[in-house]
Amino acid sequence: MFLVRLIYASTVGESFKPSDIESILRSARKNNRQHGITGMLCFNSRYFLQCLEGSRSAVNDCFSLIQTDTRHRSLMLLSYGEISQRAFSSWEMAYVSEQAMTKRSVLQFSTKDAFDPYSMLGDSALSLLADFRQLAE
Ligand SMILES: Cc1cc2nc3c(=O)[nH]c(=O)nc-3n(C[C@H](O)[C@H](O)[C@H](O)COP(=O)(O)O)c2cc1C
Repeated sequence: MFLVRLIYASTVGESFKPSDIESILRSARKNNRQHGITGMLCFNSRYFLQCLEGSRSAVNDCFSLIQTDTRHRSLMLLSYGEISQRAFSSWEMAYVSEQAMTKRSVLQFSTKDAFDPYSMLGDSALSLLADFRQLAE
Protein backbone atom coordinates (compact mmCIF):
# COMPACT_ATOMS: atom_id res chain seq x y z
CA MET A 1 0.00 0.00 0.00
CA PHE A 2 1.31 3.45 -0.91
CA LEU A 3 2.42 6.02 1.65
CA VAL A 4 0.77 9.41 1.27
CA ARG A 5 0.92 12.76 3.05
CA LEU A 6 -2.04 15.13 3.41
CA ILE A 7 -1.83 18.68 4.76
CA TYR A 8 -4.84 20.90 5.44
CA ALA A 9 -5.74 24.14 7.16
CA SER A 10 -8.95 24.82 9.10
CA THR A 11 -10.55 27.39 11.37
CA VAL A 12 -11.77 26.83 14.88
CA GLY A 13 -15.52 26.04 14.96
CA GLU A 14 -18.21 27.58 17.16
CA SER A 15 -18.54 24.44 19.26
CA PHE A 16 -14.81 24.41 20.07
CA LYS A 17 -13.65 24.96 23.65
CA PRO A 18 -9.92 25.29 24.52
CA SER A 19 -10.10 22.07 26.54
CA ASP A 20 -11.08 20.21 23.32
CA ILE A 21 -7.44 20.16 22.23
CA GLU A 22 -6.69 17.51 24.85
CA SER A 23 -9.51 15.23 23.73
CA ILE A 24 -8.68 15.75 20.04
CA LEU A 25 -5.07 14.72 20.71
CA ARG A 26 -6.11 11.79 22.88
CA SER A 27 -8.40 10.25 20.25
CA ALA A 28 -6.07 11.21 17.37
CA ARG A 29 -3.13 9.46 19.03
CA LYS A 30 -5.16 6.35 19.92
CA ASN A 31 -6.78 6.01 16.48
CA ASN A 32 -3.67 6.96 14.53
CA ARG A 33 -1.55 4.39 16.35
CA GLN A 34 -4.13 1.76 15.43
CA HIS A 35 -4.11 2.78 11.75
CA GLY A 36 -0.40 3.46 11.25
CA ILE A 37 -0.89 7.22 10.86
CA THR A 38 1.73 9.74 11.96
CA GLY A 39 1.72 13.52 11.76
CA MET A 40 1.59 16.92 13.40
CA LEU A 41 -1.12 19.32 14.51
CA CYS A 42 -0.50 23.06 15.06
CA PHE A 43 -3.06 25.35 16.61
CA ASN A 44 -2.90 29.06 17.42
CA SER A 45 -6.41 29.45 18.95
CA ARG A 46 -7.83 30.50 15.55
CA TYR A 47 -6.36 28.21 12.90
CA PHE A 48 -5.36 24.56 12.71
CA LEU A 49 -2.66 23.19 10.42
CA GLN A 50 -2.42 19.40 10.32
CA CYS A 51 -0.34 16.86 8.46
CA LEU A 52 -1.37 13.18 8.22
CA GLU A 53 0.96 10.48 6.87
CA GLY A 54 0.21 6.82 6.34
CA SER A 55 -1.32 4.39 3.89
CA ARG A 56 -3.56 5.97 1.29
CA SER A 57 -6.68 4.26 2.64
CA ALA A 58 -5.91 5.07 6.29
CA VAL A 59 -5.17 8.75 5.57
CA ASN A 60 -8.24 9.14 3.33
CA ASP A 61 -10.54 7.51 5.92
CA CYS A 62 -9.09 9.61 8.72
CA PHE A 63 -9.49 12.82 6.73
CA SER A 64 -13.12 11.96 5.90
CA LEU A 65 -13.81 11.63 9.62
CA ILE A 66 -11.95 14.85 10.47
CA GLN A 67 -13.95 16.75 7.83
CA THR A 68 -17.21 16.00 9.64
CA ASP A 69 -15.93 17.28 13.01
CA THR A 70 -17.78 20.45 14.00
CA ARG A 71 -14.95 21.62 16.28
CA HIS A 72 -13.43 23.13 13.13
CA ARG A 73 -14.69 24.44 9.76
CA SER A 74 -13.58 25.81 6.39
CA LEU A 75 -11.15 22.95 5.76
CA MET A 76 -8.74 23.75 2.94
CA LEU A 77 -6.59 21.00 1.45
CA LEU A 78 -3.08 22.43 1.02
CA SER A 79 -1.28 19.35 -0.23
CA TYR A 80 -1.85 15.67 -0.94
CA GLY A 81 0.57 13.25 -2.55
CA GLU A 82 2.50 10.01 -2.50
CA ILE A 83 5.71 10.09 -0.46
CA SER A 84 8.69 7.75 -0.20
CA GLN A 85 9.26 8.41 3.50
CA ARG A 86 7.50 9.96 6.50
CA ALA A 87 8.56 13.28 7.98
CA PHE A 88 6.86 12.64 11.37
CA SER A 89 7.50 8.94 11.93
CA SER A 90 8.13 9.43 15.67
CA TRP A 91 4.69 10.89 16.44
CA GLU A 92 1.16 9.44 16.34
CA MET A 93 0.22 13.13 16.38
CA ALA A 94 2.80 15.71 17.42
CA TYR A 95 1.34 18.95 18.80
CA VAL A 96 2.67 22.49 18.53
CA SER A 97 0.77 25.21 20.40
CA GLU A 98 0.75 28.95 19.80
CA GLN A 99 3.08 29.41 22.78
CA ALA A 100 5.66 27.09 21.21
CA MET A 101 5.56 28.59 17.69
CA THR A 102 8.31 31.01 16.88
CA LYS A 103 7.63 34.09 14.73
CA ARG A 104 11.00 33.55 13.07
CA SER A 105 9.92 30.14 11.72
CA VAL A 106 6.49 31.41 10.67
CA LEU A 107 8.08 34.33 8.79
CA GLN A 108 10.59 32.04 7.12
CA PHE A 109 7.80 30.17 5.31
CA SER A 110 5.06 32.86 5.04
CA THR A 111 4.64 36.43 3.80
CA LYS A 112 4.15 37.64 7.41
CA ASP A 113 5.05 36.43 10.89
CA ALA A 114 1.43 35.74 11.93
CA PHE A 115 0.43 32.07 11.69
CA ASP A 116 -2.13 31.85 8.83
CA PRO A 117 -1.93 28.45 7.14
CA TYR A 118 -4.51 29.45 4.48
CA SER A 119 -1.96 31.82 2.98
CA MET A 120 0.76 29.17 2.72
CA LEU A 121 1.89 27.00 -0.17
CA GLY A 122 1.65 23.28 0.54
CA ASP A 123 5.44 23.00 0.32
CA SER A 124 5.94 25.89 2.75
CA ALA A 125 3.41 24.39 5.16
CA LEU A 126 5.38 21.12 5.17
CA SER A 127 8.66 22.99 5.71
CA LEU A 128 7.14 24.93 8.61
CA LEU A 129 5.83 21.73 10.21
CA ALA A 130 9.23 20.08 9.77
CA ASP A 131 10.88 23.12 11.37
CA PHE A 132 8.46 22.81 14.32
CA ARG A 133 9.46 19.18 15.03
CA GLN A 134 11.94 20.28 17.69
CA LEU A 135 9.11 22.16 19.51
CA ALA A 136 6.57 19.35 19.43
CA GLU A 137 4.99 17.77 22.48
C1 LIG B 1 -8.29 19.66 14.18
C2 LIG B 1 -8.66 18.22 14.40
C3 LIG B 1 -7.71 17.22 14.15
C4 LIG B 1 -8.04 15.87 14.33
N1 LIG B 1 -7.10 14.92 14.06
C5 LIG B 1 -7.43 13.61 14.19
C6 LIG B 1 -6.50 12.59 13.83
O1 LIG B 1 -5.35 12.85 13.45
N2 LIG B 1 -6.89 11.30 13.97
C7 LIG B 1 -8.14 10.95 14.42
O2 LIG B 1 -8.44 9.76 14.52
N3 LIG B 1 -9.03 11.89 14.77
C8 LIG B 1 -8.71 13.21 14.66
N4 LIG B 1 -9.61 14.17 15.01
C9 LIG B 1 -10.87 13.75 15.67
C10 LIG B 1 -11.88 13.21 14.71
O3 LIG B 1 -12.52 14.29 14.06
C11 LIG B 1 -12.91 12.36 15.46
O4 LIG B 1 -13.51 13.12 16.48
C12 LIG B 1 -12.28 11.14 16.09
O5 LIG B 1 -11.45 10.46 15.19
C13 LIG B 1 -13.37 10.18 16.60
O6 LIG B 1 -12.76 9.07 17.17
P1 LIG B 1 -13.09 8.60 18.68
O7 LIG B 1 -14.54 8.21 18.63
O8 LIG B 1 -12.15 7.48 18.94
O9 LIG B 1 -12.84 9.81 19.57
C14 LIG B 1 -9.33 15.53 14.80
C15 LIG B 1 -10.27 16.53 15.05
C16 LIG B 1 -9.94 17.86 14.86
C17 LIG B 1 -10.98 18.93 15.13
